[in-house]
Amino acid sequence: MERKPLIAGNWKMNLGLNESVSLINAIADNISHFPEVDVLVAPPFTALTTVKHAIGNSNIFLSGQNMHWEMSGAFTGEISAGMLQETGCTHIILGHSERRTLFKETSEVIDLKVKAAVALGLIPILCIGETLEQREAGQTYEVIENQLAGSLKSFRVDKGLPSSTVLAYEPVWAIGTGLTATPEQAQEVHYFIRQWIENNFDSELARQIRILYGGSVKPDNVKELMSEADIDGALVGGASLKSNSFVQLIRFQEM
Ligand code: PGA
Repeated sequence: MERKPLIAGNWKMNLGLNESVSLINAIADNISHFPEVDVLVAPPFTALTTVKHAIGNSNIFLSGQNMHWEMSGAFTGEISAGMLQETGCTHIILGHSERRTLFKETSEVIDLKVKAAVALGLIPILCIGETLEQREAGQTYEVIENQLAGSLKSFRVDKGLPSSTVLAYEPVWAIGTGLTATPEQAQEVHYFIRQWIENNFDSELARQIRILYGGSVKPDNVKELMSEADIDGALVGGASLKSNSFVQLIRFQEM
């Protein structure tokens, strides 16, 4: 079974309700006859219900950008997996580098979140990636391995990581900087990640799991990245906020 490409837009803390609806309408108009690629958007929490409504019957998956690991309770300012599901989310981005660095999320906390998401049937998009200092110090693989081992700790013990789980390799030095990993650099790490899944889980899961690349993905570099054997899609920030660039990314095969 071929892994179906997934192009995912992480809107971060951007776009108001009107802009969100216009963007969804423009995407939906352009992808209605495009079943070869899965498309996903991750708007801010406050736009989820509006975006779900705008998506209607078109094939666009809805995702949260973060969540708490408990189902409910006294956690001011937090959102649970169940609440996300109620808005129509099928996916949840977890462990984004902005969460890890700006909000001090550790792999232990991310593991709790992945576990809570899977327990409810939300599909996690687990992000991992090294900083520039770590890459220059030759620590890329060690960092990736530690993040994977820590963020999937529960599953290494209990197994049961669904094959629908998505991993996203996002070198921190390439996020929002205009610097992209070369397709070869990205492929090397994607291959390492797939091997790690095979060694720590099994070869069937390693064959099925989708690994996205993220970090300054744009229409002019997407095709080359997507031509690598272990790159199964893209997690896109900046270029997902405008319909023309996001639609070009979705249609990378035509470029
Ligand atoms: P970028 O962000 O495409 O703006 O570099 C990617 C991400 O943070 O997911």
